[in-house]
Amino acid sequence: MDADIKKVLYSEQEIQAVTQRLGQQITADYQGKNPLLVCILKGAYLFMADIAKNVSDYAEVDFMNVSSYGDGVVSTGNVKIIKDLDIDVKGRDVIIVEDIVDTGQTLAYLIDLFNGRDVKSVKVCSLLDKPEGRKVDVQVDYAGFEVPNEFVVGYGLDYAEKYRNLPYIGILKPEIYTE
Ligand code: PRP
Ligand code: MN
Ligand code: MG
Repeated sequence: MDADIKKVLYSEQEIQAVTQRLGQQITADYQGKNPLLVCILKGAYLFMADIAKNVSDYAEVDFMNVSSYGDGVVSTGNVKIIKDLDIDVKGRDVIIVEDIVDTGQTLAYLIDLFNGRDVKSVKVCSLLDKPEGRKVDVQVDYAGFEVPNEFVVGYGLDYAEKYRNLPYIGILKPEIYTE
């Protein structure tokens, strides 16, 4: 299962520890607020489950599917909504749950979208933050790990839909995507 992985960056145990820390921080910051956790599919599907379990207070969950990478390793810059939310976000305290913020284009698009829908507040919780990849200026309020400028996969993150089910985060061997 590791044949395509150059290096493991974060083990399952390290990810568990970080989701606990972030969940506790969110619990403390949103006391009495009933925040809405918005999972950005597909990448955030595993992280969302771990974050939600570690928020030890009332929270609602919803799911949105957006995509901009398709099967490539470079963002197309064009964010497509594949599935929208079911819950009306008007007046809600929204927490966007992402797997990674790289160019920042997905997040910038979502923040604009939610502000246009009159949310009360919008914050961002992302397992990974890749500051070197930024093309637009966006901030992550709750960040797990800072990653180097390499193509990472696992724990939700894919290359051409593969590797999402790895329990850890790893760097993909470059020869896998440069053939
Ligand atoms: C990936 C990732 C983030 C986004 C980050 O999603 O899951 O949502 O790109 O990149 P950015 O900061 O450069 O916008 P992708 O478009 O690959 O869809 P997926 O989650 O279904 O894999
Ligand atoms: Mn995504
Ligand atoms: Mg992807």
